[in-house]
Amino acid sequence: MSTGRLLALDDVVLAAVAACWVAAAIAALAASRTASRTASRTSSPVTLTGGGPSRTAGASSVTPSRDSSSRTAWVAAGLLGLALLVTALRVVLVVALAQAGWWFAADRLLVALPMVAGPGLVAAIVTLPRPLRLASTARASTAHPSAAHPSAAHPSAAHASVGGVSSGGVSVGEDSADAAAFPGRVAGERAVGPVIVAGYGGLGGVLVAMTVSYPVPPVAAGLIAALVAGASAATLRLSAGRHAGAVGGPLSAGGEPTGADGGPLDSVGPRVSTGGPRVSTGGGRVSAVGGVVVLCFALVWGGASMWSSRLPAHLHLGAPGDARAAGVAVTELRESGRPDRTFTLTARPATVTLASGRKVEAWTFDGRVPGPTLRVRQGELVEVRLRNRMPDLAVTLHWHGYHVPAGDDGVAGVTQDAVRPGGEFAYRFRADRQGSYWYHSHDMSDPAVRMGLFGMFVVDPPTGPVSPGDSTAENVTGHDGADHTVAVHTLGGVPTVAVDDRPPADGLARLPTAPGTSVRLRIAATDNTPVTLALTGTPYRLAAVDGHDLERPGALRGRRLRLAAGGRYDLTFTMPARPVLLTVNDRPDLGLMLGDGPPPAPQRGPLLDITAYGAARPLPQAFDQRLTWVLDRRLALLDGAPAMAHTVNGQVWPGIETPVVRRGDLIKITLVNRGKETHPMHPHGHHVLVLSRDGRPATGPLWMDSFDVAPGEVWEVALPADNPGIWMSHCHDLGHAALGMTFHLAYEGVTTPFDAGADSGNHPE
Ligand code: C2O
Ligand code: CU
Repeated sequence: MSTGRLLALDDVVLAAVAACWVAAAIAALAASRTASRTASRTSSPVTLTGGGPSRTAGASSVTPSRDSSSRTAWVAAGLLGLALLVTALRVVLVVALAQAGWWFAADRLLVALPMVAGPGLVAAIVTLPRPLRLASTARASTAHPSAAHPSAAHPSAAHASVGGVSSGGVSVGEDSADAAAFPGRVAGERAVGPVIVAGYGGLGGVLVAMTVSYPVPPVAAGLIAALVAGASAATLRLSAGRHAGAVGGPLSAGGEPTGADGGPLDSVGPRVSTGGPRVSTGGGRVSAVGGVVVLCFALVWGGASMWSSRLPAHLHLGAPGDARAAGVAVTELRESGRPDRTFTLTARPATVTLASGRKVEAWTFDGRVPGPTLRVRQGELVEVRLRNRMPDLAVTLHWHGYHVPAGDDGVAGVTQDAVRPGGEFAYRFRADRQGSYWYHSHDMSDPAVRMGLFGMFVVDPPTGPVSPGDSTAENVTGHDGADHTVAVHTLGGVPTVAVDDRPPADGLARLPTAPGTSVRLRIAATDNTPVTLALTGTPYRLAAVDGHDLERPGALRGRRLRLAAGGRYDLTFTMPARPVLLTVNDRPDLGLMLGDGPPPAPQRGPLLDITAYGAARPLPQAFDQRLTWVLDRRLALLDGAPAMAHTVNGQVWPGIETPVVRRGDLIKITLVNRGKETHPMHPHGHHVLVLSRDGRPATGPLWMDSFDVAPGEVWEVALPADNPGIWMSHCHDLGHAALGMTFHLAYEGVTTPFDAGADSGNHPE
């Protein structure tokens, strides 16, 4: 089973464990009460002495009670057995998770499981035999009053009552009196103790799953354990007190007959006899004080965490402390000189008309979505002027996947101040690498990109297809074929496919293409979720991933592709005589048709494993630094408020540690997804070379800037630190980025004069 499946299954089992133990605890308490009521109705002090004989004596007079007693006992025993079973299943799952990686199992193995498996084990030994015995004796005595065989039941009862069991801070004192089931009243309820602890332990496990990630935070883990212990103790006391009150006076007799059982039980007896209301006076005060202390600590700790998690008024991101020394500011890391190609993009609201005629209100560059496709030639110095004419929105331009100088990365509050309405900013960088990229605003990028502030950016070969002076090349056709950009985007809730600078198609876009033409489709996933692509009608190659060519990519036929959010795939093929259909997300009515004629039925072949495509190349073995990013979702404090956040190493932005690297270093990064959602990870300013996924070495060579780490997956990638700056790294499910999954990678000695604090008006994510 894949680790992702194990994680999903473990969630279900975790809930089952909690539910079963809680149910078992309630049933065991009920059984214990029913049993002692049954026993007390026999009104013989002997009852408490030796359950066996008295049971036989009283059996005939209390038969109806014994029936219900038997029923509740059977239910208790059944639930207890079930709880033990699901707990055992969880142990197996967690061990399997530990084999997949310690990241997946640490919190489960160190915190969640002991809280339920420990008391569970005690319950199996101490508690389970009681209802079982009660059930069988009750039934036996109901059927044949004389057949209760006290002598048979007795020895095992004695065995069960050896010693007190301390578990989770609750002393589970053993009753002495019971020879059959729960007749020891308070004592019997005490035997239910481990079940109660396991019940709270199961609930504690749910709390662990919600709040604890990797690495395990000791304070939070300790608090949950204390909570479980405290709640168990309180419940035991409460139920013991209420029970004693209900049954009344004879409680005092509880201790008295213990002697009848002999030796080892004598010492236990007195403790049990005080187990009623009296316990709640002496021990009660201690546990009440303890509870108050724990509660106060939790409140202070929680309050302090909330306070300290608020976004400070001023926040300067980048390397901490010493690593900034003798720094160069990101503003100095910029390109100068006379640009070879200049564009101007104006951000403004506009009504966009989709191919079908449907109109959508959008935030646009130059009045369209996607914004104008920017095509340049390799080697050119490019300048893009951004003018903001949005009435009420700050805007920037981020060059997704392109290794621009840090000062042009477009991250508000890190590499520049967001461009306010009416403002301008000129980005300048050398297009030294060809390939398919895109640009988008990077101040509150989730709403900005969703509403339309993005466009395609393509760097063609030095003598490539760009027609000089044409900044919005449409259907660029060079001497060697057709070359199109295809942006997949959901605009105003409508899934669309935008080809070049045509209006986005909310259906099938069509491109007349002559047979024999060599075609390159540059496809970008600009939503927060991955895109499934199917190309039907021709064999094709996945020529480039995230702007980087693969080596000897094989011909694909009947294979679908999954493209990570933010990622780009270049598909190449020679146009056949029949039409070719590119479909998106397995919808036959959404995509791109090349050639004439009726569209073919979209193929539904298996997904290509891109880590096993392209040539195998020797991968680097020596690294200057190793980093681990464990991705997860948990309850965390975001700017002072609790939220189900997306975390890295258990933290949320801006609390995630900023790794500091040196220029020239090769960094090995291990990414682990221990959550249930896919995270398209995107480091700015760099590509990473994929080394392995789930332990299997990758081919390609696969250089990516946006790659999907699916639940349970472990990716190892190499990042060559060759572009000094302060670089944002985040999940490109931009909603996740806004919910914490954002951090920074800083080069030693690089600083930022910009401010990302609460008062800054910048929103880097
Ligand atoms: Cu397209 Cu920070 O990303
Ligand atoms: Cu994510």
